[in-house]
Amino acid sequence: MNTLEARAVEMLERAYCPYSNHPVGAALECADGTVYTGCNVENAAFGPSICAERTAIVKAVSEGHRDFKRIAIAGKSEMPCVPCGVCRQVLREFAAPELEILCVGGTGKTARYTLSELLPESFGPEFLPAGER
Ligand code: THU
Repeated sequence: MNTLEARAVEMLERAYCPYSNHPVGAALECADGTVYTGCNVENAAFGPSICAERTAIVKAVSEGHRDFKRIAIAGKSEMPCVPCGVCRQVLREFAAPELEILCVGGTGKTARYTLSELLPESFGPEFLPAGER
């Protein structure tokens, strides 16, 4: 497991997931090496819950970073934790198609994907007239 993956695993401790009991941690590395971490934060009304990946992305963007290099995602189930469809689309807004997605499972099993592998033929800002970033 590399350092970024280890940061995602550390974030499992911070997850607020009393409803699903499924903690997820994330660590997002920007082009300049800055790392933003995140965890899932659930809500009694369910709908407002946010995934670990989006927590990290929103932290990065709100601090002025939009140039993402890699994201590590950790969960506790045996299969390496892959990002949900909503998080894939949110990554697509800011990340290059070659963004590396490093997935970690509860027993340390890992898997590596690119964003375009997990979200092929995707819709993004360039499809819209005001989509210049
Ligand atoms: N979850 C994440 O944080 N990231 C994912 O990519 C998959 C799902 C969270 C959302 C919810 O709090 C819990 O895991 C169960 O779906």
